[in-house]
Amino acid sequence: MRSRRRLDMETSSAFLFFTFTVMLCLALPSSAADGSGYSNGASDEAPMEKAEKEALYSAIRGFVGDWWNGSDLYPDPCGWTAIQGVSCDLFNGQWYVTSLNIGPVHDNSLDCAAKPLFTSHLFDLRHLKSLSFYNCFVSPDQTLPSDTYWDALSGSLESIEFRSNPGLVGGIPSSFGSLLNLRSLVILENGLKGTLPENLGNIPGLQRLVLAGNRFTGPIPSTFGRLSELLILDMSRNYLAGQLPASIGDLASLLKLDLSNNLLQGKLPSELGKLRNLTLMDLRNNNFSGGLTQSLQEMESLEELALSGNPVNGELNILEWQNLKSLAVLDLSRMGLRGEIPETFPQLKKIRYLGLSNNSLSGVLPPDLETLPNLSALYVNGNNLTGEMKFSAGFYSRMGRRLGAWDNPSLCYNADELGPTGNFPCRVRPCGDEKLEEEEKEMTVGHISRGKRLGGDGDVGGNSYLLPPLGFPSNGVSGFQCCNFCVDVLLLAIVLNYFL
Ligand SMILES: *[C@@H]1O[C@H](CO)[C@@H](O)[C@H](O)[C@H]1NC(C)=O
Ligand SMILES: *[C@@H]1O[C@H](CO)[C@@H](O)[C@H](O)[C@H]1NC(C)=O
Ligand SMILES: *[C@@H]1O[C@H](CO)[C@@H](O)[C@H](O)[C@H]1NC(C)=O
Ligand SMILES: *[C@@H]1O[C@H](CO)[C@@H](O)[C@H](O)[C@H]1NC(C)=O
Ligand SMILES: *[C@@H]1O[C@H](CO)[C@@H](O)[C@H](O)[C@H]1NC(C)=O
Ligand SMILES: *[C@@H]1O[C@H](CO)[C@@H](O)[C@H](O)[C@H]1NC(C)=O
Repeated sequence: MRSRRRLDMETSSAFLFFTFTVMLCLALPSSAADGSGYSNGASDEAPMEKAEKEALYSAIRGFVGDWWNGSDLYPDPCGWTAIQGVSCDLFNGQWYVTSLNIGPVHDNSLDCAAKPLFTSHLFDLRHLKSLSFYNCFVSPDQTLPSDTYWDALSGSLESIEFRSNPGLVGGIPSSFGSLLNLRSLVILENGLKGTLPENLGNIPGLQRLVLAGNRFTGPIPSTFGRLSELLILDMSRNYLAGQLPASIGDLASLLKLDLSNNLLQGKLPSELGKLRNLTLMDLRNNNFSGGLTQSLQEMESLEELALSGNPVNGELNILEWQNLKSLAVLDLSRMGLRGEIPETFPQLKKIRYLGLSNNSLSGVLPPDLETLPNLSALYVNGNNLTGEMKFSAGFYSRMGRRLGAWDNPSLCYNADELGPTGNFPCRVRPCGDEKLEEEEKEMTVGHISRGKRLGGDGDVGGNSYLLPPLGFPSNGVSGFQCCNFCVDVLLLAIVLNYFL
């Protein structure tokens, strides 16, 4: 799932630019490795200090194992015998190592030993700008070198990446906060734990901070608000708790904020409204409460807003939703929201995914929703909507299974409009059909219906979308239609523009 997200096409041009700069770091080593990056010109002849060469061999041998004899295999590691995952640059006519990528990225990458070691020689590579480990620390209980070592690289390191190293435990070395040239710090899907060092907020040019998928605990330090150049902040899938600090609103450049699947609580700070450039905010599955915060309506660049699975409660209508003109994905399911679906929703012309399921919404389903040109999924199931759904036959057929309106006891659809062979909304009864109404009530108490419910509520937080519909007529005949959610989960994965 993660790797698919990583490859998703990005639509935001600003992010594309950023991705490009980051990918550059990843791309360089491979071009160096097949020699093409450095195959021509006099630079081939450039010398390399013996100490630098020995430090490189020794650092790599620590990670890949003692069998690896660099001086034998790669006598000219920055020149004609380039090492996969290593790239170099010229400084005063000498080669120095600038990038080191360890782990099975390519077929001929440097694979790690069972117990990879950080040797002190790694920290002798004083021109190292980019250091990355992918799937390297796999066996349990390995830790990062202590603080003092990292200080040696504070003048050079611009990018650190630890990705998919499940055996890596312990905390983030607090000296990472002294790596003042860092632009990107990615600690993704490892076993790291402990609280987040406050001094990470001191890194003036940090543009990307990804700490997702570890076991970090404690609060989000308010010092992170000093990261005025930050474009991407992803700390999802940890155990972060406490309130979201008000200083989050100081992250003026931020484009993407993902804090989903943590234990954050309290009211969403009104300072979030200051994030005028933010395009994605994902706070799903936390413990936020206290009603929606009105200033969210000022986040005018938002394209994707996902708040589902928080006991926020309060009124849906507290926001002028029509101000969020760029919204393409809006996921507000499982939030305990009350009130009616705003009549202004149909002004959100870019919306593709609208999820309002499992709240306490009442009133009618605005028929104008069908005028939204790009709407491809609409979930309002599990509410208390009433009256007649007044969509056209064309809309029902366009939406198919991606229109979720079931579990609204007093909602019915306009059967006359559709005729006998139309595309009926899934598990909604036709208006005026008392017999079917009874039938549905019976099903709602039975175990069959329970299974259906688990099979998908149109919210994106759950796991079990795969249960097939049991015991329901498969198509149209009695107004109950097959509901299959595999499609929708895929759709949402594509629709939600995940970074990393
Ligand atoms: C690597 O190989 C060279 C030449 O075969 C040898 O002299 C050297 O001792 C070896 N180094 C290590 C660390 O095994
Ligand atoms: C917000 O985005 C605009 C347009 O891309 C850009 O000109 C501006 O500098 C950004 N603001 C900040 C604080 O980064
Ligand atoms: C959620 O937040 C409330 C306070 O708003 C707190 O009482 C409750 O313990 C929190 N639940 C969890 C699981 O942290
Ligand atoms: C709907 O949401 C409420 C409150 O968030 C929760 O208690 C309930 O279990 C949810 N129901 C389903 C089927 O997810
Ligand atoms: C609808 O989607 C198409 C294709 O992605 C896009 O070109 C168009 O601008 C979108 N329309 C609106 C109103 O966003
Ligand atoms: C649903 O709405 C009706 C009136 O529209 C109201 O009488 C009923 O109590 C509501 N049910 C719930 C569970 O909120």
